[in-house]
Amino acid sequence: MKHFIIASLLTILGLIVFILVDTETIFPQEKMTVDEEQHGLKEQIHIVFSHVVAENTPKGLAAQKFAELVYEKTGGRVKVEVYPNGILYSDTEELKALNAGEIQMIAPSYSNMTEVVPEWRILDLPFLFRDYDHAKAVFTGETGKELLQFLDNNNMKGLAFWSNGFKQMTSSVHPLREPVDFKNLTFRVMSGDILKRQFQLLGAKPVTASFTDVYSSLENHQFDGQENTISNIYSKGLYQFQPHLTLSNHGYLGYSVIINSEFWNSIPAVIQKQIIEAMHETTLWNMEESKKMNEAQLEKMKEQADISIYELSNDSKARWMTKFQPLYQEVERYMSQELLNQIRKSTY
Ligand code: LMR
Repeated sequence: MKHFIIASLLTILGLIVFILVDTETIFPQEKMTVDEEQHGLKEQIHIVFSHVVAENTPKGLAAQKFAELVYEKTGGRVKVEVYPNGILYSDTEELKALNAGEIQMIAPSYSNMTEVVPEWRILDLPFLFRDYDHAKAVFTGETGKELLQFLDNNNMKGLAFWSNGFKQMTSSVHPLREPVDFKNLTFRVMSGDILKRQFQLLGAKPVTASFTDVYSSLENHQFDGQENTISNIYSKGLYQFQPHLTLSNHGYLGYSVIINSEFWNSIPAVIQKQIIEAMHETTLWNMEESKKMNEAQLEKMKEQADISIYELSNDSKARWMTKFQPLYQEVERYMSQELLNQIRKSTY
């Protein structure tokens, strides 16, 4: 009996060993889960970054640089996939897609964000920024940090402001030198109360339209003119339908770089730190690069395009500013005077 029990136990033990060994040979892929490379791949974090401009623009290139730096700094753990030219979402759709978590990052112009962050309307005041250094001082300094915090109440995390550059005026009709030249012309504008008001004060009719539609609407003569940076005018070929360009530097086109806050809070702190470092490096690069790109693309446009270019004289500028006077007064009524002074005083 004793021998029988021992024999039975040995048989059961043998069966257990057989099953364990056999399972490993039948399901060899089980072993692969501990393979380091596979493990790393499984944990890769994807950030979909959607924007609406061309790749060869300050925003397009900054997005690519940011993607490279993030990949490098996180040792490949985070992959930023950049979708330019509005191929995923237009500028009127991207914010909704970000909030719905369909994408993780966008970089809309701050003008397009003023419905959500009314405090940013101040940034659209004409002739607010003196030069590129002034814009850099505002956007990369304490004021920039304060301005970004307005996003926190809206379930979004602001990572930085990027720059495109100074906006210029274009027209298909005639040169735009004096306020009277704007009278009764229809201008495409991005969204933003201040931008609309600016054109109304010049006697023009502003119409809000998505950037994605600008090329076709200018081609179809829906608008007589528009305002944009040299970089956007050149990279989108808008000059083909707008043969009069006034170098007015009257407004500044900057971007708020935003990440979905739920996604942001879900990633480890160490990765957040690496992303912030990559963003900081990209932002400083973008601030320098945007100035150079606009200058270089103006030269290319002069060589390649049949376009007449006018520089706004100081006297004409003074007359534009007189027209804009009511706007500065209106703004002072509903915006923080302190913030406006802070912006004006910033130096780099
Ligand atoms: C525009 O609508 O003209 C710009 O905001 C496009 C952009 O993102 O530069």
